[in-house]
Amino acid sequence: MMRSTFALQDDVVYRLKAAAALLNISENTLRNHLRDSGMEIQRANKKNPASPAVRLFSIADIFRLAQWRREQELVKRVSSSPTIIAVDLIKGGVGKSTTAGELGVQLSLLGYRVLMIDLDVQSNLTQLMGYESDLTMDEASQHDLNEDGIITGTFSTVCTQYMESKSGRGTRMENVATLIKRPFGIHGPALIPSDTFLGDLEQAFTYAKGNRELVFRNLFKDSAAGQVPGLNVSEFDFVIFDCPPSISFSSTNAIAAADLVIAPIRMDSFAVKGLSRLVSEINGLAERSPEVRPQLMILPTHYSTNITRVSRMQQQLQAYKTNLSPTVISSSELFPKTQENYLPLTLQQPTAAPVGEYRLFTEFVLSVAGKLARKPASVNKEAA
Ligand SMILES: Nc1ncnc2c1ncn2[C@@H]1O[C@H](COP(=O)(O)OP(=O)(O)OP(=O)(O)O)[C@@H](O)[C@H]1O
Ligand SMILES: [Mg+2]
Repeated sequence: MMRSTFALQDDVVYRLKAAAALLNISENTLRNHLRDSGMEIQRANKKNPASPAVRLFSIADIFRLAQWRREQELVKRVSSSPTIIAVDLIKGGVGKSTTAGELGVQLSLLGYRVLMIDLDVQSNLTQLMGYESDLTMDEASQHDLNEDGIITGTFSTVCTQYMESKSGRGTRMENVATLIKRPFGIHGPALIPSDTFLGDLEQAFTYAKGNRELVFRNLFKDSAAGQVPGLNVSEFDFVIFDCPPSISFSSTNAIAAADLVIAPIRMDSFAVKGLSRLVSEINGLAERSPEVRPQLMILPTHYSTNITRVSRMQQQLQAYKTNLSPTVISSSELFPKTQENYLPLTLQQPTAAPVGEYRLFTEFVLSVAGKLARKPASVNKEAA
C-alpha cells in the first residue's frame, strides 16, 4: 500500500489506554466519546481472527477524536486570533525542532488547530513529521510513497510570492494550500515544510519593499483578512515557527510576528550568551516597531540532576526567573531516534516520561497564551 509519509503509521496503533493518554482524558470518557460520536475504530481481530477483539486506534483516529472534542466545545478556546509562537535560539542542537514538533503535536492532541512552519534548510522538523525534504518523485515511488510525500513548496514560496504581489511586480499569488502538508490526516496538525529551496528566502528579503523585519507579520495580517489564497491563519489556534540556529531575516521575522518566543536552553551547556543575544534582539525589534512585543519563555532541556553544569546553569538562569518555564525537559536517549523514525516521541511512545514533560510544558504554554490573549488589544494587536 502507498504511504504518504515515511512514518510507518500503519504499524503505529494504540489501545484504549494509550489513546486516552494521548487525548489527556480518562478511558471512560474515551468510551463515551466513541459512543456519542459514532466513530468506528478497527478491531485487532480483523486481521488476525485468533487475537482478542480490542480496539486499535490509528494516529488519524486520535486526531479525529481530538477535533471532535473541539467541535463538541470540550476544548477551552485560548484566543479568538491565533497565538504565534517562534521557537528560537542562535545556538545549534538545543532542542528547537524537537520542542516545535512535540509542542505542535501535543496542542493538536488537546484539540487545538496547529500550523507548524519549518524555517530551517536542515529540515529537521519536516523530517520529524515524516518527510524527506529533497525527495524526488522517482525516489518516492521506490519507497512506496505517494505524491503527498513530495515537498512542492516551502515558506519561501509563500513569502516570495507575497512580497512580489505587494511590490506590484508579481502576478497573483498561487494557492498556498497545495504545499501545506497534513502528515497525520486532515484532522491533525498542518505543516509548511522545508527543503533546499527554503534558502532562497533570505535572498528574497533583500529585495523586499518596506520594513523587512515585518514581512511575516504583515503576511499573517493579510492572510487573516483573506488576502492570501489557500492560507487563512485565523483558522488556526497556534502557528509555530521552528527557527534555524543562524542569524537570519527569517528568525527575525518570526520573532517580530510572534506573541511568544520559546527559547530552549540546554542545561548541560554554556548557553546563557545565546539567551542574552535573543533578549537584545527582541528589545531592538520592540524599539523599532512598537507593535512587536513577544513574551519570552525559557525552556530548560537536556535536564539532569547529576551534572554539575546544570546547577551552575540554574544559577545563571535566575536572572531570567520571570521568563523561566516551571517545567523542564529531561535528557533522554529516546529523542535522537525520533528523527530516524520520522515520528515525534509523543506519538511513538505516548506514555514515556519525557512525553509527560512536554505535556506539562504544553499546558504551561496554554496558560501563558490565555493570559496574553486577555491583555488589552493595543499591546498585542494592531488595528486591522
Ligand atoms: N531532551 C533531550 N534529551 C536528549 N536529546 C535531545 C533532547 N531534545 C532533543 N534532543 C536531541 O538533540 C538533537 C538536537 O535537537 P534539535 O534538533 O531539536 O535541536 P535544534 O535546536 O533544533 O538544533 P538545530 O540548531 O540544529 O536546529 C536531536 O538529535 C534531538 O533528538
Ligand atoms: Mg532545529
